[in-house]
Amino acid sequence: MNQKLISHILLFFFCIGCVSINNSIMAQNAPDKYEAKVDSLMNLMTLEEKIGQTVMYSGGWDKTGPTIRTDFEKHVKVGNVGAMLNVYTVKGTREMQKLAVENTRLGIPLLFGYDVIHGHRTIFPINLGLSSSWDLDLIEQTSRIAATEASAEGLHWTFAPMVDIARDPRWGRISEGAGEDVYLGSEIAKAYVKGFQGDDLSKTNTILACAKHFVGYGAAQAGRDYHTVNMGEEELRNVYLPPFKAAVDAGVETFMTAFNEVNGVPASGNKFLFRDILRGEWDFKGFVVSDYTAINEMIQHGFAKDSIDTARLAMHAGIDMDMMGEVYRLHLKKLIEEEAIDVALVNESCKKILMAKFKLGLFDDPYRYNDEQREKETIYKPEFLKVAREAAAASNVLLQNKNEALPLDKTKTIALIGPLAKDEFHINGNWGGAGDRKGKSVSIYEGLQDYLKDSQMLYAKGCEIESEDEKGFQEAINAAKKADVVLLVMGESYHMSGEAASRTNLRIPGNQTKLIKKIREAVPNKKIILVLMNGRPLNLSDEVNEVDAILEAWYPGTMGGSGVADVLFGIYNPSGKLTATFPRNVGQVPIYYNMKNTGRPIPERDPKEDYKSNYIDVPNTPLFPFGYGLSYTKFEYSDLKLSDTNIGFNDTLTADITITNTGNYDGHEIVQLYVHDKVGSITRPVKELKGFQKIFLKKGESKTVTFNLTAADLKFYNDENKFTVEPGEFEIAIAPSSDFKFKHIFTLKE
Ligand code: NOJ
Repeated sequence: MNQKLISHILLFFFCIGCVSINNSIMAQNAPDKYEAKVDSLMNLMTLEEKIGQTVMYSGGWDKTGPTIRTDFEKHVKVGNVGAMLNVYTVKGTREMQKLAVENTRLGIPLLFGYDVIHGHRTIFPINLGLSSSWDLDLIEQTSRIAATEASAEGLHWTFAPMVDIARDPRWGRISEGAGEDVYLGSEIAKAYVKGFQGDDLSKTNTILACAKHFVGYGAAQAGRDYHTVNMGEEELRNVYLPPFKAAVDAGVETFMTAFNEVNGVPASGNKFLFRDILRGEWDFKGFVVSDYTAINEMIQHGFAKDSIDTARLAMHAGIDMDMMGEVYRLHLKKLIEEEAIDVALVNESCKKILMAKFKLGLFDDPYRYNDEQREKETIYKPEFLKVAREAAAASNVLLQNKNEALPLDKTKTIALIGPLAKDEFHINGNWGGAGDRKGKSVSIYEGLQDYLKDSQMLYAKGCEIESEDEKGFQEAINAAKKADVVLLVMGESYHMSGEAASRTNLRIPGNQTKLIKKIREAVPNKKIILVLMNGRPLNLSDEVNEVDAILEAWYPGTMGGSGVADVLFGIYNPSGKLTATFPRNVGQVPIYYNMKNTGRPIPERDPKEDYKSNYIDVPNTPLFPFGYGLSYTKFEYSDLKLSDTNIGFNDTLTADITITNTGNYDGHEIVQLYVHDKVGSITRPVKELKGFQKIFLKKGESKTVTFNLTAADLKFYNDENKFTVEPGEFEIAIAPSSDFKFKHIFTLKE
């Protein structure tokens, strides 16, 4: 009997059991439905086929790591591969799927994964930008759209969200996350997972999400990517783990390991992280994929002696799938034969991976995500572009607006200057998915055309992003002299943030700042507006003195130019607030709002007192703090009322505050609730965000905003690593940013 015939007979018997599966109950929360199906399939599988499920290769559509081999097709054809990354489009995934389904003995479909990070085709602002919107519904909507587009192009799985807390802007991957805060980061993690996975994975427009990188990746020493991470369990549990726990609570189906070591043990071989915490304490049922060749890298870490050893360590740690490393394919069988690994571990991994394939409905139809018509109708849908435009505007943060330089006046002539003014390439940012970098994205120049006649725009590039060449300066200065207002669009290249893109210098690169200074000298009395595109908090200490207004636009994505123009002309009143602190200089880094007090904080009564925890050259305070962002209007906070000043463990404290829009524009305000646990069995941060609300107020309007706080909100991992709440005094405030002084107190009693 030939191979194909055997395969069809086996699948026929297997599928008799499958057809009865009702798709509508194939939801994430009903895994038992597949248990029997997976088991009966596994009964048919050889050990090699089971190992095959744990192997992932990269196709050539995108390059997201070192190329190790390109002859993956031959392995796909014999059932040695369970998943592929970097292959997309209906045609591309169909061809690859065919290789697996039509050639292998059991015809088990492949899983297609890709880095759909802030959009697939329609690109939204980079994640740090999206987080600045503090708009959970909007974030969920963007990942819903991303999943819709990705699944229409044959994808089943995104390697997102990245939920790493990041407090070091030198680290290029700060751009991919939600910033520095634990609470906000956890809420945003949930929103992404919900958006990607929807409420039913069996629908063809939902995909598996992946919480990454477990864990501590954002705490790389000196902000250098992949670098060593050392931290106490207290910090690990209170700061770095919570967003991952939130992702598990939201039902995330997969996890990815981190490249770094944590306290001497590489994450990809770390039993404590994956077996004890993720599976043990959190009861995570999905599967874990390694990062790209991260298992192999345990040799360079000095943790594994050779490639065989890496496979053994990773399997023992609970890493189910090997991304691109080949060590599972090459060594698992031998390790089992030598009894260095129990076959039960491989069975367990294989089972979890098959379970995910069942949930996606791939055993009903391996091509159910391969519909050309749907692909054509879905990509760049006008309604998606509309959300992208809104997201671009909502992620903008107005950092400075002296003399109400913004919004712009439509009747004026504008000198549009800078290397990013006409850009449609960098604007998509790093991890721009499959978004086209030519011909699709709206540049700032094009966005302004909705509001201005071409004759009102005097364009001069002025300089390059990363060059010292000044030959364009004079043309830019001439344009500035002729115009009423100067609009500069400057920043970093998109490849200056993202993976392997750490910087030690946080200034705007090249000679862009020099050009700003020259323009200021040439037009001392004209309004100069600086629009920034960049992937991290920058040191803007010079720029704040040269320009009137600064609008942080991040990399705003496909509709970036339109969204930014809407903000510049006041059609969209900016409401974004920073989710990562902007330092005064690189020497302050890491700097974040929820730090510890130290034994020698700077005293309020005399900030110059000696022997205190300070710098002698710059203040401790940042240039722009967490939670900060201006609006064209003004909001007044008054009359904070607490329902009680004493609460018990089972009580709810209600905090009310009145917010009034006292300015001249309607607008959104992000109202933030902070507490300070004054004394703990371990020291607690000086401030901690515990809630926020984004409200809309018409000019002149007032609203009472109410927050409820319970003892559960005040829990933390204590000196015994127990998640608990301790009685005592807490300071509380409701504020427009993290820059405030506490004035209210309540006591929590047992
Ligand atoms: C390496 C990155 O660290 C990870 O985030 C990404 O998902 C993989 N490459 C796959 O591209």
